[in-house]
Amino acid sequence: MAPRKIIIDTDPGQDDAVAILLALASPEDIDLLGITAVAGNVPLELTAKNARIVCELAGKPETRVFAGCDKPMKRKLVTAEHVHGKTGLDGPQMQDPTMPLQDQHGVDFIIETLRSEPSGAVTICPIGPLTNIATAFERAPDIIPRIQEIVLMGGAYFEVGNITPAAEFNIYVDPEAAKIVFGSGVPLTVMPLDVTHKALTTKPRVDAFRAMHSKVGDHVAAWTDFFERFDMEKYGSEGAPLHDPCTIAYLIEPQLFKGRHINVEIETQSDLTLGMTVADWWRITDRPKNAMFMNDIDAAGFYALLAGRLARL
Ligand code: RIB
Ligand code: CA
Repeated sequence: MAPRKIIIDTDPGQDDAVAILLALASPEDIDLLGITAVAGNVPLELTAKNARIVCELAGKPETRVFAGCDKPMKRKLVTAEHVHGKTGLDGPQMQDPTMPLQDQHGVDFIIETLRSEPSGAVTICPIGPLTNIATAFERAPDIIPRIQEIVLMGGAYFEVGNITPAAEFNIYVDPEAAKIVFGSGVPLTVMPLDVTHKALTTKPRVDAFRAMHSKVGDHVAAWTDFFERFDMEKYGSEGAPLHDPCTIAYLIEPQLFKGRHINVEIETQSDLTLGMTVADWWRITDRPKNAMFMNDIDAAGFYALLAGRLARL
């Protein structure tokens, strides 16, 4: 089967970095058309820089990286340095990138790519706030029916929120953008905290990255060591959830995941529950089923895939 043509929309972040590495390590499955950076974990200037740092770490400086939106559609930017550190990639010492940032705006790249590629041939993988995607939809609604699938990391239902009691970070930062994407009619596969919290970086799994004795393995281990302290403190878990790589792993081995096709709506009015993904898991309403909402993962299989692919870099 031909590799899936994808665009990764991202706010690196250590877990975003692992997702990008997994995609770049899997050319037989993934044809990465480009990476669009968005403001999220850290401001846009840093997410655009971090995306290039990761591409160079993977030995793929020819990857096209574009800067997208520097703030949410209607709100002030909320960042997450408390989780990812000041740089967004805290953990190992990192060199500044030498590869260039593309001149074109990330939103224009998304629009142009969807218009020039055959209809139904491009999958979009948002792993940060949905600002770039929703802005592209507002600017060029003609691209919406041309998208093969959106596979995104975001939201939560039984796991509830990680940035407020009700909301997951990616959705919370730009709830208006999320409402546009979830209401677009594009086939959606969602990796919420309900599934990512079952993909923890336990010590044996991080040791497997170190055992690669490679720059990539050492960086991934150092990133997870830094990144996991937040979740271990907060949840008392035995590691950090590797949220974003779940999207790429799904494209490579979808059988690793289980979920339900249900209705998911986004709260944009209430201060108390802003950004909540209201998932009709028990199908109580007759609201349209708009999302494949994942809630289970073969975590051992996920980490075996990750280790096997990252060892290639
Ligand atoms: O809530 C987890 C999500 O927020 C992940 O994408 C992480 O990188 C942060 O962006
Ligand atoms: Ca992210």
